[in-house]
Amino acid sequence: MKLQIINGPNLNLLGIREPEVYGFSSFEDYLQKLIQRFPGVEFHYFQSNVEGEIINKIHETGFSFDGIILNAGAYTHTSIAIYDAIKGVATPVIEVHISNVHARETFRSHSQIAGACKGVIAGFGLDSYRLAVEAMMSR
Ligand code: DQA
Repeated sequence: MKLQIINGPNLNLLGIREPEVYGFSSFEDYLQKLIQRFPGVEFHYFQSNVEGEIINKIHETGFSFDGIILNAGAYTHTSIAIYDAIKGVATPVIEVHISNVHARETFRSHSQIAGACKGVIAGFGLDSYRLAVEAMMSR
């Protein structure tokens, strides 16, 4: 199984940025744990702070990969262009969030992209990504 993980803006700062919300681990360290836990999965990882680059990666992988796990960061709440990109590809996309977006500022409760995704996992810390991998595997 080939899975693409895409992290959006500011998620390159995981481990440094607001650790009380997002934890103390970098994504690169966490990814190693995922790789060990799921030896049957070929993981590809991409992070960008640029909306268009995220869209390009969805296009690039969205017809050949088995799944895309997408944390679009703040673009989650604003990006019709990412919604359209997800709609436009064949590969299923799961939206993930580290924090429980519904327990924070009200603007985080709305996802502009959720309607194009297979499902949404939020609030379990970095473990949200592991849960998304499990969900992809059980499809
Ligand atoms: C986030 C939640 C978003 O509201 C925020 O803008 C992020 C991270 C999360 O993983 O909890 O950058 O997507």
